[in-house]
Amino acid sequence: MSGELNYLHEFVPGSSARTLLLLHGTGGDERDLLPLGRDLDRDAALLSPRGNVLEDNRRRFFRRLAEGVFDQEDLKRRTDDLADFVVAAAQQYGLDRSKLVAVGYSNGANIAASILLRRPEVLRTAILLRAMVPFELEKLPDLSGVRVWIGGGKQDTLIPRENTERLAEMLSDAGAEVTAHFFEAGHSLTSVELLLAHRWLSAS
Ligand code: MLT
Repeated sequence: MSGELNYLHEFVPGSSARTLLLLHGTGGDERDLLPLGRDLDRDAALLSPRGNVLEDNRRRFFRRLAEGVFDQEDLKRRTDDLADFVVAAAQQYGLDRSKLVAVGYSNGANIAASILLRRPEVLRTAILLRAMVPFELEKLPDLSGVRVWIGGGKQDTLIPRENTERLAEMLSDAGAEVTAHFFEAGHSLTSVELLLAHRWLSAS
């Protein structure tokens, strides 16, 4: 469905050239991260799609076989679908794609990481909150010029710190400029990390 806006979504126009692509976690929807997006950047446009996979009535961006075990075929397909949506939405709303920043939480962070690795032309900047390695790769893409801020929870039982660290290493080996912080937190976000992410974004 390339070229069509094939995801239900919220779009909030902004007063700057930047757009935050907000990607919610499992069980969320397109409205979930709007306040967080506004806290991160009060001037940016907000583009927030709704995950189109249902797991026990909870929305996600791709299927999984078990906690932390992803359905790789589905992940591939949905990564392309979402990347195509972003390109089509940018065209429809007149957004500058070079100023697009993905902000993903949990399942949303994982599909953002998947877009970075599989469709690197679509995203140049990302804030990944509670992310893990989406898939293994033999050959890394060239992510030079890409900037990524990663926030992990030291006590996160869903996403082990080592896994997030491996993702940070993978992105950095691919040439991205990666900033990773681990907080005294579990899977839920803390105000301290959002403040740090906000500062990082403001300095970009
Ligand atoms: C995922 O399935 O993407 C991760 O395990 C995080 C989650 O959504 O629980």
